[in-house]
Amino acid sequence: IPVDPFDLVIFGGTGDLARRKILPGLFRRFCAGQMPDSARVIAAARSAHDRDEYRRFVAEAIREFSGLRACEGGTLNGFLDCLDYAVVDARGTEGWADLASRLSPDRVRAFYFSVGPGLFGDLAERIHLHGMATDESRIVVEKPFGHDLASARDLNATLAAHFDEGQIYRIDHYLGKETVQNLMAVRFGNMLFEPLWNSQYVDHIQITVAETVGVGGRGEYYDHAGAMRDMVQNHLMQLLCLIAMEPPAKFDPDAVRDEKLKVIRALDPVEPHHIVRGQYNALDGEHPGYREAVGNPRSSTESFIVMKTHISNWRWAGTPFYLRTGKRLVARSSVISVMFKDAPHSIFGPDAGRHANVLSIRLQPNEGITLQVTIKEPGPGGMRLIDVPLDMTFADALGPEGEDPPDAYERLIMDVIRGNQTLFMRGDEVEAAWAWTDPIIAGWQLRGEVPKPYDSGSTGPGDADLLMKRDHRAWRGINP
Ligand code: BG6
Repeated sequence: IPVDPFDLVIFGGTGDLARRKILPGLFRRFCAGQMPDSARVIAAARSAHDRDEYRRFVAEAIREFSGLRACEGGTLNGFLDCLDYAVVDARGTEGWADLASRLSPDRVRAFYFSVGPGLFGDLAERIHLHGMATDESRIVVEKPFGHDLASARDLNATLAAHFDEGQIYRIDHYLGKETVQNLMAVRFGNMLFEPLWNSQYVDHIQITVAETVGVGGRGEYYDHAGAMRDMVQNHLMQLLCLIAMEPPAKFDPDAVRDEKLKVIRALDPVEPHHIVRGQYNALDGEHPGYREAVGNPRSSTESFIVMKTHISNWRWAGTPFYLRTGKRLVARSSVISVMFKDAPHSIFGPDAGRHANVLSIRLQPNEGITLQVTIKEPGPGGMRLIDVPLDMTFADALGPEGEDPPDAYERLIMDVIRGNQTLFMRGDEVEAAWAWTDPIIAGWQLRGEVPKPYDSGSTGPGDADLLMKRDHRAWRGINP
C-alpha cells in the first residue's frame, strides 16, 4: 500500500548511512510502488553541492547498494526526480530559511538526523526556530543514542525540549529485520509455544549475533564503544526483550514498548565472573588484529563478549539467558535458541540418552525456524532415539513468488512516514538499557580488566566455552 506523499529531510544526506542504507532503501520502496513519486527527499548538508551533483551521487549509491537490477531507466530517473539538495549549516543560520521554504505545508515531514549526536540539539532547535515543526513532523535518530545513562538522558532531554515523545523515532535497525518481527508472530500467533515459554519448561536461552567483519574503518568510534555498547546495549537487549516479554494486549507501540521496558527493568545485575570479553588477533597477515585495526596498541576494548544474565520475574526466575556477540568470528550468524528441558522421565530407560527440544530462530542469514524434535531411529534396532530438525526456511516456505522482504531500513523509514512507533525504541527503554549496562562497564574499568585474545575466524576465546561448561551446558555452533 503506498504511503501518502511526504517530505523527508536527511541531515547528513551525503554520509555513509545515507549512501549505504537510507537512499537505496527508499529506492527499493519506490520500485515497489510504496513511495509515491510526488514524495520529496531533501538532503541537507554543509558542503556546497547542487541538486544535479546530488542526483549523481545517489544514482551511484543505488547502483552499489540497492541490490536491485532494475535500477536503470525510468524507475531510477523517477526516483532521482524526488531528490533535492539544500546547503544548511547545522550550527549556524545559513540555509535554514531556504530549507523551510522548500517544505510543503500539509504533508508528513520527517527529519532524519543521520549525523553525530553532538548535532541533535542544534538541529532540533533550528527546526523549531524556523517554524518547520508541525504536528505532522517526526524526527529520526540513530545509535549511538548516548554513551551511558547520563548522556542518553541529556540527549532525551535535548530532543524533548522541542519534540514530543510521539514524534521521536529512535532506530534500532534490528527491530526492522523481518525475522525479528517473526519472533513476535511465532510467540503470539501460535498456541503451541506460549504455554511452554517459561522457566518450568525452558532450561535456558541463547542469543548469538556473530559477525565475520572486523571494525573496518570505524576504529575511532568502536574503540570507545566495544561490543557491549555497540551491540549488547541495543540489538541484543532488544532481542532479549522480544523473546522474554509478556504478551502485550495488542500490537501497538506503547503496549509493546511497555512490556519490553518491564523486561529490562527486571534484569539482574551481571556478576563479573558471568562475563567473558575477547579481542581478535590478526589472521595470517590477511586481516589486521583488533588493536592494529583501531590504531591503539594498548586498547582494552572488547570486540567479543558473552554473558549470562537472569530476569527476575515469575516467568523467568531461574532460567539463564546467555548472550554472545563478536566480530571476526567463524561465520555470520544471528540465532536465538530456546533450549527446552529434558522430558521429566524417560520411559525408554537410561540407554535412550538425554534428549531435549530446541527451538532455533535464525535471524540472518538463511532466515527461518528449526524445531529439534526427538524421534525413533529408523530401523529394527529397538527403541533408539535420535534428534532431528523440523526445519522451515522462510525463503522455501514462502516460495519463489514470495516478495523479497524489505530490508530493515526500508521498513523502518516507511513506518516513520506512517507514524507507527512500534519498532522504535522509546526514551525510557534506552535509559533503562543504559542503567543496566553502565555498572557492568564501570566494573571492568575499576578492575582494569583486559579482554582475552581470540583468533580471527574462531568462535571466540576458550573462556566463553568454559562459562557454559561450568553450568553443564554448551553453546550452539556458529553456523551460517
Ligand atoms: C551496528 C553495529 O549497529 O550493527 C555494527 O554498530 C554491526 O558494529 C552492525 O556490525 C550489525 O548489523 P547487521 O544488520 O549487519 O547484523
